Amino acid sequence: MCGIIGYIGKQNAPNILLKGLSKLEYRGYDSSGIAIISKNDINIIKSKGKLINLKEKLKNNKINSKLGIGHTRWATHGVPSDINAHPHLSQNKQIAIVHNGIIENYLSLKEELELKGYHFISDTDSEIIANMLEYYKEENFLNTINKTISRLEGSYALLIINKDDPNKLFAIRNESPLIIGINNEEYFIASDIPAILEWTKNIYYLNNKEVAILKVNSINFFNNKKEAVIKKISKITWDYEVAKKNGYEHFMLKEIFEQPNAVKDTIKLRIKNGLPNLDIKLTEKYLNVIDKIYIVACGTAYHAGLNAKNLIENLIGINAEADIASEFRYRNPLINKKTLVIILSQSGETADTLAALRLAKEKGAKVISIVNVVGSSIARESDEVIYTWAGPEIAVASTKAFTTQLSVIYLLVIQLALLTKKIAEKEAKSLIKEVKSIPKKIESILKEKSKIKEIAKFFYHDKDAYYIGRGRDYYIAMEGSLKLKEISYIHAEAYAAGELKHGTIALIEDNTLVVAVCSIEKLLPKMISNIKEIEARGAKTLVITNSKEKIGTYNFIIPEINNYFTSILTVIPLQLLAYYIANYKKIDLDKPKNLAKSVTVE
Ligand code: AGP
Repeated sequence: MCGIIGYIGKQNAPNILLKGLSKLEYRGYDSSGIAIISKNDINIIKSKGKLINLKEKLKNNKINSKLGIGHTRWATHGVPSDINAHPHLSQNKQIAIVHNGIIENYLSLKEELELKGYHFISDTDSEIIANMLEYYKEENFLNTINKTISRLEGSYALLIINKDDPNKLFAIRNESPLIIGINNEEYFIASDIPAILEWTKNIYYLNNKEVAILKVNSINFFNNKKEAVIKKISKITWDYEVAKKNGYEHFMLKEIFEQPNAVKDTIKLRIKNGLPNLDIKLTEKYLNVIDKIYIVACGTAYHAGLNAKNLIENLIGINAEADIASEFRYRNPLINKKTLVIILSQSGETADTLAALRLAKEKGAKVISIVNVVGSSIARESDEVIYTWAGPEIAVASTKAFTTQLSVIYLLVIQLALLTKKIAEKEAKSLIKEVKSIPKKIESILKEKSKIKEIAKFFYHDKDAYYIGRGRDYYIAMEGSLKLKEISYIHAEAYAAGELKHGTIALIEDNTLVVAVCSIEKLLPKMISNIKEIEARGAKTLVITNSKEKIGTYNFIIPEINNYFTSILTVIPLQLLAYYIANYKKIDLDKPKNLAKSVTVE
C-alpha cells in the first residue's frame, strides 16, 4: 500500500523526506508528495508519477525546514493525479496529513462535512481526515486528534503537521503499521523499516490508536484515553534487503502471507447489511437481456476467470465462457449488445488482455474489469471497473492478486444472482457470511505452512509433476501447476482428472508427484478412484481436500467452506508448495528467468 515518511530534527527536512521516499519506491506507487513547515507556513509539493517528478519540482525549492511529512501513494480511491496525491490539506490550509490505509466510513463522514460547508478537491478517502481535524480543532491538538480518530472506521497510519503547532509532528496508528526511529535528537517516522534504516536501527513501534507527539528533542506517547504511555526502544536487526520484505525471505512469501488482509481489504467495504454492495451499474433489465458472458484474461487471472465462468453458470444461469485473451482476440468471438465481457488483470496493462477488451467494445459488448492497479489502461478503457485492493504485488508469481480477484468474483456473482432473482436474499446472506469467513480460513491454512514445507522436501529434485482436479478443482490444479512451473522450472502439467486415463497416465512412473485437488463433494468418489489408479502406477500423491478421509500419500485438509468458494482455500497450499520447492532449489523466485511482472508485449 502507500509509503509514509516523517522527519523532525536538525537536518533539512526535504532532503531527508526524499531519501526516505526513495527507499519505499520498491513497494510500487503512482504519485508522491511532501509537506514542510517553514516560517509558520505549510508548503506542499506533490506530483503524479515517479519520484523523479517530485524531485524536479523540488529542484528550485529554497525552503529550509526541520520538520516535514512525505508519502508515496498506491491508489485505492481516486485515480493517480497531482490532486489525489498526498499530503492533503484541510480547507483552511492549517493542517496537512499523509495517510496509509482505508477509511471504511469515509463517504458518510464526507457527506457530514459537506453539510457543514466543507468542500473537497480530491477523490480520496484520506482528505476527509484533514477536514475532520479542522472541524474538531481546539487549543489542545491531542484532543483534536482523539476526537477525529474516534470518528474514523478502518485502518490508518497518519502523520499530521499543524500550522498552529509548527514545532511538533503528530503520528497516529491504527492497523496500518507505523514506526518511529530515533537517532540523537532526530526522529524518523515511517510506514515500514526500509525507509529509515539509513539513519537508525533504534525504533519505537506504535500500537493501535496510540498517538506520538514529536518535538526536536522529545517524544511523548499517548493511548486513546490520552494517558501517557512509556515505550521501550527496539533494535532492528535487519539489513535493507530483508527489511523491504518485512522480514520474509522473498516478496512472494510476504505476499502469500498478506492474503488474509488483502482479501479482507477487498471485501469489507463491499458488504452492507450482510449483502454484496459492489458499486456497479448493471441493472436487472440489462442482465435479463444478456445471453452470453465472456470472462477474458491471461495466466493466473485466466484461472480466476474459469472460476468465474463456473459460478456464473451455477448461480446466475447465464451462458458463460472463460477465454485466454491471446486466443479470444483472434478467434472472431460472437459478440453483440447482448454480450457482457468481464476482464481480469492484476497489472491492468497486459497487452493481449487490453486488445481483447478493445475488440469486445468494438463489437458492442459492455466491459467490466477487475483490476489491481488503479488508473491502469484496462481500468481506464472499461465501462466499469472493480478494483481488487491487494496492494502492490511485487513478486512475478501472482498470489494475493489471484485470491482478491476470486473474492471480487464471489461478491459479483452473488450480487448479480440476487439482482436477477436467481437466489433469495436469505441465500445471498448465507453465501456472504461464507465469503466473510475467508480471511480467517486462509490464515488457518498459512499456520500449517510447515506441513507443506516438509512435503516439498521430497519433490524438489523432481523433473515432472502433474496436477489434477475436476470442475473448479481443475482450475486450481491449473493455477498450482503454473505456480510450480514459473518459479521452480519443474515441468508441471494440469489435467482434468477424468482425462488422465486418455493418454497422459502413460507418463506416470514410480514416485512421480501428482497433486490432486478434491474439494467438490459430489466429485470426491470419482477423484478417489483417479488417485488410486495413479498410485497403482507408482505415483506419490498430495491430496488437497476438505474431506477428513486419508486419501493420498500426503493429505492437506482445508477448512470447511461452502463448496462454491473452496478454490480460494485450495490454492493456498499449492502456492506454498511451489514456493518451498523453488526455495529448496535456491532459485531467485521473485524474479524467475524469462518472466516479467506485466506482459505488455504480445
Ligand atoms: C502469474 O503468476 C503470472 N505472473 C502471469 O501468468 C500473470 O498472471 C499474467 O501475465 C496476467 O497478468 P495480469 O493479471 O497482470 O494481466
